[in-house]
Amino acid sequence: MSSQEGGAAEPGPDTVGPSPSSSTNNDAVTGDVITITIGATVPTGFELTAAEEVKEKIGVDARISKDRGRIYFPITTNELFQVHLLKSVDNLFVVVEEYHLYPFKESKEETLMEMMQLATTLPWANALAVWKLNGTLKKKKGYRKGGNGTKVKSKREATDATVADTEQQELPQAASAAESQTKAESTAEAETSAQDSEEAEPEAKVTKFRVTCNRAGDKHSFTSNEAARDFGGAVQEFFQWKADMTKFDIEVLLNIHNDEVVIGIALTEESLHRRNISHFGPTTLRSTLCYGMLRLCKPQVSDIILDPMCGTGAIPLEGAIEFNSSFYLAGDNNDMAVNRTVNNVCHIQRRMAEKGSASGLPIDTVQWDLCNLPIRTGSVDIVITDMPFGKRMGSRKKNWDLYPSCLREMARVCTPGTGKAVLLTQDKKCFTKAISRMGGLWRRLHTVWVNVGGLHAGVYLLKRTGAVFGQTPEDIHESRGTVNAQGDENGDKELS
Ligand SMILES: C[S@@+](CC[C@H](N)C(=O)[O-])C[C@H]1O[C@@H](n2cnc3c(N)ncnc32)[C@H](O)[C@@H]1O
Repeated sequence: MSSQEGGAAEPGPDTVGPSPSSSTNNDAVTGDVITITIGATVPTGFELTAAEEVKEKIGVDARISKDRGRIYFPITTNELFQVHLLKSVDNLFVVVEEYHLYPFKESKEETLMEMMQLATTLPWANALAVWKLNGTLKKKKGYRKGGNGTKVKSKREATDATVADTEQQELPQAASAAESQTKAESTAEAETSAQDSEEAEPEAKVTKFRVTCNRAGDKHSFTSNEAARDFGGAVQEFFQWKADMTKFDIEVLLNIHNDEVVIGIALTEESLHRRNISHFGPTTLRSTLCYGMLRLCKPQVSDIILDPMCGTGAIPLEGAIEFNSSFYLAGDNNDMAVNRTVNNVCHIQRRMAEKGSASGLPIDTVQWDLCNLPIRTGSVDIVITDMPFGKRMGSRKKNWDLYPSCLREMARVCTPGTGKAVLLTQDKKCFTKAISRMGGLWRRLHTVWVNVGGLHAGVYLLKRTGAVFGQTPEDIHESRGTVNAQGDENGDKELS
């Protein structure tokens, strides 16, 4: 493999031209600082939010991929640490090369053959250098338990087949059904060889790797398994690495979306959305999605923010950590859910105390029925919640009573004129009907369409109008009985 110093990227197969953007980014080397393109998977629907966060925290413009749920942005290697602090991204990878219009051949055999050639001609050096640097950063931050330290090496060294870090790594999370992606590994067998000890000579170690192919599009003549297998085989031969599906050091990503092909190296072992919750419930929301919802409502200093159906507390907990100048009230009618929230809050507080943080989290947890909240009228700035979809939680039938009751009670506690609500639901029909029956207490501002566990859902941003509560016939509570006042026992069980 030839090096890429200052020149154009090495060509792919004869007919394939790398995109100008990627060759610029991947080849810009200035001393030890390399400019590279980072790819990030984000909750689908919140790509713009993630791009905003990147602009705010790293100061660069992110490109949103046509493949929903991904963004790409350039960084220099000294900014790599900041990338791991982003709150709206799930998984990170460094781009080796990208092709916006990959001219796939008609026949499967030709296409797979070309992919094998591609593996040997890609400009791997910078991406591998970044992968090594990433390992060093993660160890410094204490992410990893074992392995030897690595340092950023020159581009030439970075292509070395030996890698010092061989600690056991967890399998990355399978891509969510929402992204309808197929995961496939390049190897037929999982290796189970013992891990090298920390003292072992780096030279004695062989890099273990796997290839994961994510493919979307119906015009391909090959499966993701076949692409991963053949491309992986060529990578193995080229670098003399050892394929291992479970204990790999390097995960090479082959992302194919219609005509777009992006080859990357993973920089996260498990999704960054797994940061807050230790006590899970049946419908725990990803922290990255919670972050996106919170950003939508723009919390201000001293805002009172209410999640009246908090479940495990994922939303208010993310808020109390990331937007901690506001105060969060978390409640649920189910005692198991309330316990989970309390445990999750305690867990994070303990973690903070261990790190020497003196202050606790601005959050309180209460058991209540949201249709009858023990909260003063007009005293809440923002209501933010994930409503029962009526699938895994509650039922569609109950939603017809629950949604109007809860929208009415939320309107009562929310400050007229300035109050906001950010509500997630998949039961769009019921939600839309309920809003239309609110007598103008709520105005719909914006809807973000998201994918939650494969379900197409809406995050509705509502504004509390200036209408005074209790003045219209619609505000008068219809006598339906208390909805789910004792907590729906079935509601907190996973349905088969
Ligand atoms: C979709 S779940 C929320 C999940 C939560 N966002 C999480 O990450 O764990 C909806 C929650 O609403 C609660 N709930 C349903 N009816 C309620 C009511 N009348 N009052 C309060 N909570 C209710 C359920 O117990 C459930 O925990």
